[in-house]
Amino acid sequence: MKIRTENSVKIKTSLLCGFVLENSNNILGLGKYDAKTTSAINQSLKDMEGKLGRISLIPMPGKNPAQRILLAGIGKKENLTNDTIRHVSGKIAQKSRELKLKEFSIITPPSFVMDSISSVTQIIEGCKMSLYKFDKFKAEKAEKSPDLTIIVSKSSRILHAIKTAEIVSEGAIFTKSIANLPPNECTPTTLANFAKMISKKNKMKCHVISEPELKKKGFGGISAVGQGSKNEPKLIVLEHTHGPRNEKPVVLVGKAVTFDTGGISLKPGDKMDEMKFDKCGGCTVLGIMKAVSELKLPINVVGIIPSVENMPSGESYRPGDIIKLYSGKTAEILNTDAEGRLILADALAYGEKQYTPKAIIDFATLTGACIVALGTNIAAIVSNDDKLTKRINESSKRTTEQVWELPLNQDYMDMIKSDVADMKNVGIGRAAGTITAAAFLKNAVEKTPWTHIDIAGVAWIQGATKEKSYNPKGATGFGVRLILDYLQNL
Ligand code: BES
Ligand code: MN
Ligand code: ZN
Repeated sequence: MKIRTENSVKIKTSLLCGFVLENSNNILGLGKYDAKTTSAINQSLKDMEGKLGRISLIPMPGKNPAQRILLAGIGKKENLTNDTIRHVSGKIAQKSRELKLKEFSIITPPSFVMDSISSVTQIIEGCKMSLYKFDKFKAEKAEKSPDLTIIVSKSSRILHAIKTAEIVSEGAIFTKSIANLPPNECTPTTLANFAKMISKKNKMKCHVISEPELKKKGFGGISAVGQGSKNEPKLIVLEHTHGPRNEKPVVLVGKAVTFDTGGISLKPGDKMDEMKFDKCGGCTVLGIMKAVSELKLPINVVGIIPSVENMPSGESYRPGDIIKLYSGKTAEILNTDAEGRLILADALAYGEKQYTPKAIIDFATLTGACIVALGTNIAAIVSNDDKLTKRINESSKRTTEQVWELPLNQDYMDMIKSDVADMKNVGIGRAAGTITAAAFLKNAVEKTPWTHIDIAGVAWIQGATKEKSYNPKGATGFGVRLILDYLQNL
């Protein structure tokens, strides 16, 4: 999809789209048309009432520069958010593709509805993300994406916002496209190769630690979880160093279990196929790093991705094992299906020790309990630093990638105490499963501001997920837009 801008609505286009507020009598930003066209538009306006998500297509008579006009309802002004424009723009793009158009145009709403920087950002995110389709393994491919003309008054700030939104959307799409890969096609080694590929393209440093080095350097969690699979574990590290030499980096850590069977504590078979998405945290970090490097953000950012396959076999780690983590602390294994916290603990401790970062943020499809607590539209966050949480909440408001904080105090820390080791890898029964998992992670971070984001509910589209045009079936790329907003506002 190529994107360009025009100042005037009077352009030659196959499809001219404008937004309509609920029960209003005009298309936002369209301006004056001849009497015949106006009466056709007025009839459609009455029929669709500007209700959120409704669209209405009007063919134009021959001499009009626009072959068709499309009205897109955005509901009541008081309910309007960035998400409204993103979602409705996605619907418009999907309609354009359905009509097999080569290009279409969208009129940005006037500033009393939304400022133009936000508007172009949402329009681009909605259009680009809604047209992504996971068709790598299908003979029948999706139609080519039509090009987009955005009608907006041009300025250097607008052009910068457009470029940014394109890179951010492509980051999220990259995350979706690798997260959707099946587990036979995407192993820890595959992810390491993706990391090398993006680092080469965009001049980042990349190094990958494999066995036996992992074991030798003390990554006991990654080694233990990885030992049951013939697909070897990897620790993938990407460095973007465009900030001042002495500035502490932000470290991003992402869980990448390329398939989670549960190991010896085998999961039930129902929906086990969805555990290919247990690598989504790591894929989010890869998408963010790709975009950070393409945006050339003037900061230092490190991405760390512990990647394993959690399989049952004669070589697997077992319930009852006691392992030593990178932090030096020991963990009693009581359930091999609580594997995410083990590999993350290693990566968090490594990130803190190696980089003395100013903040650490981790992403993980860590607990089923997170879905019980918050459902599939909001991610859980657990943090040791209120300032960091506040910033992430602000980014969440702007990007509508929703988060909700859960508490973590000493009582929860006590729930993972073990009789035989420094801690155990499960809490007490089902109580507060998301928090006890976070409590385990907290033990890996000594003094750095840290936020954990449990994306178990939001990383892919599940039964109860609210449908959004820009998130078609499969992985959502959750966290990419959120954290890129945070990093751009540091
Ligand atoms: N990857 C799963 C968590 C998960 C389950 C995410 C379903 C999304 C959907 C994780 O490794 C896991 O199995 N966690 C266990 C922890 C338990 C054994 C303490 C869980 O949530 O049941
Ligand atoms: Mn598991
Ligand atoms: Zn898992």
